[in-house]
Amino acid sequence: MRIGIFDSGNGGLVISRALKKKYPFCQIIYRQDPVFFPYGEKDKEQIFQRCLWQTKMLLRAQVNVIVVACNTATVTSLNRLRRQFSSVPFVGVEPFVKAVNLPQYRVSAPNKMGLLVTSRTAESSQLKNLLDKWDCHKRLRILPHPKLAGLVEEYCKHKNRFLLLSKLKTELSWLSKERLQYLILGCTHYGLIKDEIEQVTGIPCIDNTPHIVKQILKLTGERT
Ligand code: DGL
Repeated sequence: MRIGIFDSGNGGLVISRALKKKYPFCQIIYRQDPVFFPYGEKDKEQIFQRCLWQTKMLLRAQVNVIVVACNTATVTSLNRLRRQFSSVPFVGVEPFVKAVNLPQYRVSAPNKMGLLVTSRTAESSQLKNLLDKWDCHKRLRILPHPKLAGLVEEYCKHKNRFLLLSKLKTELSWLSKERLQYLILGCTHYGLIKDEIEQVTGIPCIDNTPHIVKQILKLTGERT
């Protein structure tokens, strides 16, 4: 089974690594788009055009399934991709808003859970639809961050955890004063630095990678 995975950068590796652990024999073709990174600060049409390009490249590589391993690309473009390539099985990664209603993440009061996302995801109608669907407009704080994915890309290059933590302190330490009980990671890049985000903010983070991997395995007919 050939599985194509794409993201703007390294974020989707969170999914690709988790998938490889569960399904060691699958062949993964991973694509990133360094010239157009970050998607989270591009306009909707431009992101769609990049997703179109990534999809065509993966199809040329003869993949059986395409994983859009990027929340920003999923909320802006997945519906259009599905319409345009109706015979291709896609798996998207959308913000895990549903966590608000899960008993294991129960919080003591409304607005005690935050959703960390890119700017484009925060503004998307798809996110609004998810908030409607799970009835959580007043229960979830949307926290767009324009720079965080970029910090992750830098970290992937320099691998200096001390530098990363000091930059995260500047960007995120204000969150520790907000008394949030959980932070949902609504961008695949953030999953790569989950431990560091937890360390700086003191807030446990929720990442839906295991759920996405299950969806991929279901689609490919693999047992979990
Ligand atoms: N990894 C992408 C996501 O999940 C965002 C990174 C970017 O802004 O390009 O939203």
